Formats: sequence, structure tokens, C-alpha cells
Amino acid sequence: MGSASQAIDFSAREEIRERKFNHIWEQQLEPAFADIAKYYDWANHVASLGLWNWFRSQFMATIDLKSGYKALDVCAGTNAIGIAMLKKQPGITVTAIDRSEAMQEAGRKSAQKKGLTIESNIGDVHKLPFPDNSFDVVTLQFASRHLRLLEVFGEINRVLKPGGYFYHCDMLRPANKTVESLYYIYLKACLAGTAFIAGSNPESKSCKKYFIHAIRDFYSAEELEEMLKHLGYVNTGHKTVFMGMLAFHKAAKKPE
Ligand SMILES: C[S@@+](CC[C@H](N)C(=O)[O-])C[C@H]1O[C@@H](n2cnc3c(N)ncnc32)[C@H](O)[C@@H]1O
Repeated sequence: MGSASQAIDFSAREEIRERKFNHIWEQQLEPAFADIAKYYDWANHVASLGLWNWFRSQFMATIDLKSGYKALDVCAGTNAIGIAMLKKQPGITVTAIDRSEAMQEAGRKSAQKKGLTIESNIGDVHKLPFPDNSFDVVTLQFASRHLRLLEVFGEINRVLKPGGYFYHCDMLRPANKTVESLYYIYLKACLAGTAFIAGSNPESKSCKKYFIHAIRDFYSAEELEEMLKHLGYVNTGHKTVFMGMLAFHKAAKKPE
């Protein structure tokens, strides 16, 4: 686990991301995920060359769960993380929130098949519909690039109990330029291939470029940890795998 110490103007960086991508976040993502829901899990297995479950197991290994804990999975999609948490610690309760009814419907079916229950909430995560100090654990995987992060990370801090932990996993911009270029070429081919095979609708096809641009304009693992500290989180840390392409962060809400 590492960290960086230079001061970053997060508001300015977030303004740039918002200016570039807000129209996609507001208008194109929901119809895209409504379409992607039917092949989301399959496409991830293909694009990761079968490593999807390994990625998840690496993330799960960073998450500390005790019986009785209340966990919230933000941008839960098809409930992959909620299901993995319940398998790891059946004594917890898991609440999910996502804006896409279709992704959550796929997630509800997936949990039901495994005999698991995850409370589903449909809504925008920039304003979480939960009281302050509600959860022991909050998770967020593969969705930060689509969000105004200062707001969402702030909301997550608000709903965490003092001392509770936020666990984050996402594909980030690799620090090495050559790795970064090869990574984008690979992602572009994967997105085109899976969208073609699955017969994607125009909305999800039009998001293909965005999915890559959103990574390019995103934060490095060190910068993301700095943002968590900047927002008042404590005991922060991160680790990267795959030459910085994937990062796992953890951060606690300051105990009272
Ligand atoms: C790439 S999927 C990740 C799903 C899941 N966390 C996983 O790891 O498989 C991104 C999810 O973020 C959701 N999402 C994007 N923007 C959102 C917002 N503003 N509010 C709620 N959900 C959002 C999408 O609907 C989608 O289900």
C-alpha cells in the first residue's frame, strides 16, 4: 500500500471531467447499461481473458467482514460484489444501490439463484438515500469513472459509521505510457468485439470511445488515495495489480 503527497486541485480536476463527460453520464449511460445488463457478466469474463473472478477475489481479500455488519454496495450493477460479500460472510446484510433497473434486475436474479437476498435501491448515487452513520462497510467497484467523485466519496463518508471502511476497486490509468497505450488498444478491441457479438444498441455502441476516454482522464492510484485523505478519510491505503491497471483502495471514516 502506497501514497503520494503533492497537493492536487481536486475541484479543478473534477470540473474538467464533468465538462467533458456530464452529457454522457446524464444521457447515455443509463440506456447503455439497460442494454449491457443482459451480457455484462459474460463480457467482463471475455474482456478480462477469464481473470474476472480472480480480480474479484483479490478485491474481496481486502475487505474485512464480521458477522452482523451492514454493508452497502454502491453502483452495484449485477450484484457481483454483494454476492461475493455474502459468500465470504453469510452473517452480514447487504444493501445495493444502482441507477439501472436492468442491471439490478439481473443482479436480483443472480442473487436469488444462489439463495441470497440483497436489498435493492434504484437511484442516483450522488445523493445516497440512507441516514448518516448507517453502514459498517461500503464498496464501490468499476463505476467511479462515471461519477462526480468528490460528491459520491463524500456521501459514502456520511453514510459510513465512524470507524467503518470504504473499499474501492477500479481500472485506473497506468503510470507507464507504453503500458497505457497498449491497454487502450486492447480495451478498444474488446469493447468492439463484445458489443458486436452481443448485438449492442446504438447507445452502448456510442459509449465505446467514452469508456476509454474516461480512464485516460481519470486518476492514478496515488491521486485517488490523496482524494480520500482530502475528504477526511483516515487509515487510507491502496495496492495495484497488473502494472497499475487495477487498484484496490481502502479508507476509514474518522472514528468519533
Ligand atoms: C461497470 S458497472 C459496475 C457494476 C458493479 N459494481 C460491478 O463491479 O460489476 C457500472 C454501474 O454503475 C452504475 N451507475 C453509473 N452512474 C451511476 C449513478 N450516477 N448512480 C447510480 N448508478 C450509476 C451503472 O448503472 C452500472 O450498473
